[in-house]
Amino acid sequence: MTVQRVLKMGDPLLYRKAEPVLAFDTPELRELIVDMFDTMAALNGAGLAAPQIGVSQRVVIFEVQANPRYPNAEPVPQTILINPVLEPLSDEKDNGWEGCLSVPGMRGLVSRYQELRYTGFDPLGAPIDRTVSGFHARVVQHECDHLDGILYPMRLQDIRLLGFEDALFPDL
Ligand code: NI
Repeated sequence: MTVQRVLKMGDPLLYRKAEPVLAFDTPELRELIVDMFDTMAALNGAGLAAPQIGVSQRVVIFEVQANPRYPNAEPVPQTILINPVLEPLSDEKDNGWEGCLSVPGMRGLVSRYQELRYTGFDPLGAPIDRTVSGFHARVVQHECDHLDGILYPMRLQDIRLLGFEDALFPDL
């Protein structure tokens, strides 16, 4: 088990466009994914992108079960998504509060597509093709943004919609 250090907002690596994965089912890829799950679990995250642990490759993971950081979130199946492509299925967007392990202690209200299709590959190179909505769609958009060097505060329409968790949600 190797819990890696998560880079924080301000680190230049988080603003880089990540490189596509060219080889599947390799020891390096397996090790990266284990480290990502160990790191996400240690910090109670809902998702993690490889650049957040300093690896500039197009790999994201996410999973939402009962998560104390997201008490109202609907479950999302455990997913490893490589070289993802997102395709919104309508122009409709929803606002929702997001957090990020690279922006610890804060939440922001972010507008995301309600419904989308995503494609990509699993760690063995088998294709993934899903149509999702709601929180699942939000998590995918947030994680895939990391691969293009985008952190959720960069998507805020009003900086007042960013705040500290204990100020925004004092009862949690
Ligand atoms: Ni994030």
